[in-house]
Amino acid sequence: MLKISDLSAAELGEVLDRSSPDGLAERDQVLAGRGVALVFEHPSARTRNACEMAVVQLGGHPVTIRGEELGIDRRETAEDVARTLACYHAVIAARVERHETLERMVGALDGAGEGVPVVNLLSDEEHPLQAIADVLTVAQHFGEVQGRVIAYVGDANNVCRSLVGAASALGAQVRVASPPGYGLDDADGAEDPAGWRVDKLTSPEEAVSGADVIYTDVWVSMGQDEESQARRRAFAGYSVDAAMVAKAAKHAVVMHCLPAHRGEEITAEVLEGPQSIVWQQAANRMHATRGLLEFLMLEAEASGHRSDHRLGRAR
Ligand code: CP
Ligand code: NVA
Repeated sequence: MLKISDLSAAELGEVLDRSSPDGLAERDQVLAGRGVALVFEHPSARTRNACEMAVVQLGGHPVTIRGEELGIDRRETAEDVARTLACYHAVIAARVERHETLERMVGALDGAGEGVPVVNLLSDEEHPLQAIADVLTVAQHFGEVQGRVIAYVGDANNVCRSLVGAASALGAQVRVASPPGYGLDDADGAEDPAGWRVDKLTSPEEAVSGADVIYTDVWVSMGQDEESQARRRAFAGYSVDAAMVAKAAKHAVVMHCLPAHRGEEITAEVLEGPQSIVWQQAANRMHATRGLLEFLMLEAEASGHRSDHRLGRAR
């Protein structure tokens, strides 16, 4: 589960069904007695806490490990880290500096025949768990995602790519407005078999006009600190402010994956305003993570790939 396109539209629908906040107490304890490794090469507030609590709600035990503790490709290779964690855990989830690290972890586990899924907790390419929470939030607010117009204003980054993939799969149209040089590439989404429903724009006004959702994210993502001055210059005029929100549909909502930088990509007035649903969105990170983990565990069980470390082999 490295990219949102690793789930088909039907599978994404099933994950969303399993992500309901209702009936928490009756959840199948699909992780009972099992561990989930949560690796963080970058900081996190939402993802770490959402994941830890989701694992607990499914009866499992989360082990959070900071990047410097593991020293991926410094202390030992990403492949050896993955093989080691797979000795103890039912799932390996990782936030990495380079997406390639996740691919190498998957390759190492496939090679060893292990039935331990690897989940992307944010890479420089995608943030799929965020996108599942995002479409869950849109579905909760509007009843369904299909037919909605989502205007993403800002950097066409990891969050943007996963959002476009998830929203497209569910039948929404996404308009992405970015400054020249910071938009989606032609290659973005090309490998998604479901195809992306996206308009690539430079005008934020055009993107938000009549839209149901306005979405934004930071201009400077983790790992891009050296580019911060150039980025702040390039994104001037792309701040989501009250005048921009007024151009969207009257019923429009404002979303942001957080952390937010008030006065940069979004004004404090909009973030704290009545159309903002960012805290519902943040809360949904836990529900969406639980839904995905439940889905992955039941899939592994059904396909006979659930690993049993006590026997020292996959069964
Ligand atoms: N939205 C999100 O992933 O937040 P964190 O970086 O705090 O995990
Ligand atoms: N695009 C941001 C998202 C943070 C959750 C980053 O990668 O830093």
